[in-house]
Amino acid sequence: MLPQPNRQMALAQYRLRARFYDAELAAFEPVRLRSVGCLQLQPGNTVLDVGCGTGLSLELLHKGVGPQGQIVGIEQSPEMFDLARRRVARHKWRNVTLLNAPVASATIACQADAALFHFTHDILRHPDEVRHVVGHLKPGAHVAAAGLHWGAPWDWPTNWLVWMAAMYSTTSLEGLAQPWSHLLQHLGAVQLVPSPIHGVFIVCGKVLSTGSEVVHHV
Ligand SMILES: C[S@@+](CC[C@H](N)C(=O)[O-])C[C@H]1O[C@@H](n2cnc3c(N)ncnc32)[C@H](O)[C@@H]1O
Repeated sequence: MLPQPNRQMALAQYRLRARFYDAELAAFEPVRLRSVGCLQLQPGNTVLDVGCGTGLSLELLHKGVGPQGQIVGIEQSPEMFDLARRRVARHKWRNVTLLNAPVASATIACQADAALFHFTHDILRHPDEVRHVVGHLKPGAHVAAAGLHWGAPWDWPTNWLVWMAAMYSTTSLEGLAQPWSHLLQHLGAVQLVPSPIHGVFIVCGKVLSTGSEVVHHV
């Protein structure tokens, strides 16, 4: 059995990566754009940026919800959090709240309209963290998740790249075949959206309201 995500390892990983992180992620901007688009944000919405890192998604989320909306970013790494905090200060965004905590113990003081899990494999593979986030979403809220996943078994060049990237950016290879599987228990109308990059998935869905039908296209 593959090991589960490890918090201490993740903290050490992002302590080292924080300074270079934004440059390293530049190639994945098309994925971010498409994932945020899946959230169908409306002016005035509240959105959770789960594992927000240095806050690279905040500008797009801010455009989506407008100045009347609210954004809550959750990030456990102090070094990544500090860069997100500086980004918020630089842009003078007054409607962004940043929580420096592991997702499972973050005090989320709202019921949100949407949640983004962008390159957060460790969080997606932690059922309690997924449940905690979904518990702070309204029925029908939009959820988008994106990140690394195994390609077809014969696609060894892609899988080699996925393996390298996962060793560098996650603390567990567990669940890389279907990283969104824990989300499926909470969402309906889940769709695998075409991704601009091989070895990267984008999944979107809506939080189930009681008694609603579960439709999955993944
Ligand atoms: C690959 S980065 C993605 C950052 C951001 N979402 C982006 O798209 O640029 C993963 C982030 O998740 C954070 N993270 C990992 N496990 C976490 C947890 N359990 N709670 C909160 N943050 C976590 C890491 O510290 C890191 O900043």
